[in-house]
Amino acid sequence: MHSDVGSILFSEEQIAEAVKALGKRITADHAGKSPVIIGILKGSFIFMSDLVRNIDLDCELDFMIAKSYGNAAVSSGKVRVLKDIDTDIAGRDVIIVEDILDTARTLAAVKEILMERNPASIQICTLLDKVTTKKVSDLRADYKCFDVGDEFVVGYGLDYAERYRNLKYIGVLKREIYEH
Ligand code: PRP
Repeated sequence: MHSDVGSILFSEEQIAEAVKALGKRITADHAGKSPVIIGILKGSFIFMSDLVRNIDLDCELDFMIAKSYGNAAVSSGKVRVLKDIDTDIAGRDVIIVEDILDTARTLAAVKEILMERNPASIQICTLLDKVTTKKVSDLRADYKCFDVGDEFVVGYGLDYAERYRNLKYIGVLKREIYEH
């Protein structure tokens, strides 16, 4: 385990099992359809790549960069779209893939932007759903792997100041790393 991580929340094996089950569910729910699956970078990149390999559908993939945190452990309150998708989603079933739904600010903003392009439907798929009183939107995940508490979690795509994304597990960052 990385020395900056206090404890492991979800092991590599637990994640693989949950992602596989979720992929099966999405495949069953979208039988006969060809959804556009949009990963919100950077945090979703590992989850997205594992998830889509467990989705047995004729789907298309795209990516968007939306940032809300900067390098701080607390949300700055702003959402910036730094890279847009290039897929035409009009009339398409869209699944947005995120690593974590925290305040829901990022996904609420992304969903609003994508809704203006007249997709047939938009669903939200998140690896982690933070159980918090700080939600700024009533947006909820259609699909998720795990609930997490109000800890600072890293690994499997999730960062603190761009570090720890490459950890194979999801762990809780030690408080002294982000509180100076
Ligand atoms: C993180 C995460 C989500 C968002 C969740 O992104 O990947 O996109 O914050 O928080 P919210 O629900 O409170 O909006 P971040 O801006 O840190 O960028 P990253 O994906 O590059 O890590």
